[in-house]
Amino acid sequence: MIAMRLDQFLVKSDIGSRSEVKKLVKAGRVCVGDAVVRDPSVHIDENTDAVTLDGAAVVYEKFRYYMLNKPAGYVSATQDGQCATVIDLLDGVCKKDLFPVGRLDKDTEGLLLITNNGKLSHELLSPSHHVDKKYYVCTDRMIGAEEKKAFEKGLDIGDDKPTLPANIEETDNGYIVTIREGRFHQIKRMFSALGAEVTFLKRLSMGGLVLDESLLPGQFRPLTADEIKNLF
Ligand code: URA
Repeated sequence: MIAMRLDQFLVKSDIGSRSEVKKLVKAGRVCVGDAVVRDPSVHIDENTDAVTLDGAAVVYEKFRYYMLNKPAGYVSATQDGQCATVIDLLDGVCKKDLFPVGRLDKDTEGLLLITNNGKLSHELLSPSHHVDKKYYVCTDRMIGAEEKKAFEKGLDIGDDKPTLPANIEETDNGYIVTIREGRFHQIKRMFSALGAEVTFLKRLSMGGLVLDESLLPGQFRPLTADEIKNLF
């Protein structure tokens, strides 16, 4: 049996903060099985005990997954002494143990997966897995055909090895670029190696996970069951 305190179970199930759920329990609104439990420190088995709040089932999910449309101005970290973080944007959810999968620069926008599943994060970020990441990029000048070829071949950006071949397509106002690595400032450094400066950068997809364009910058939502399945 895996035991967890009732108040912890309720917090992790997004019912409220630790102090809020304690009040609910003490008010007799929470049942474990058929019994009203008024002690928030009671241990329950989160896998088998049926917990209800005001008669409605409380569903506990060990792993949580959110898609955030990251706005510029937020750092991809769980904490930062000076700047607001992407986790600060997750209003109304239990933030405990959540972290962003990989980093987008402070001025980069777009798709960011946020989860508490460390193993999945490790797999998505592992260099050997080569998960495709697609970006919309605007630059201070358009690059030529020869430069595009260099992009597609792999570029020396000052690391030990050149970048892996990337895909680049021109659009009306910029480029759609797909890379298979996640090096520090990679897109900016690739354009910089060609003498161009990135003026806007937004991630559109990561592997099979595609940014939901109905999310405005700063908005987020839980992943759907299909999106979660696609991640594995
Ligand atoms: N490449 C960059 O240069 N910055 C990002 O945030 C992501 C990819």
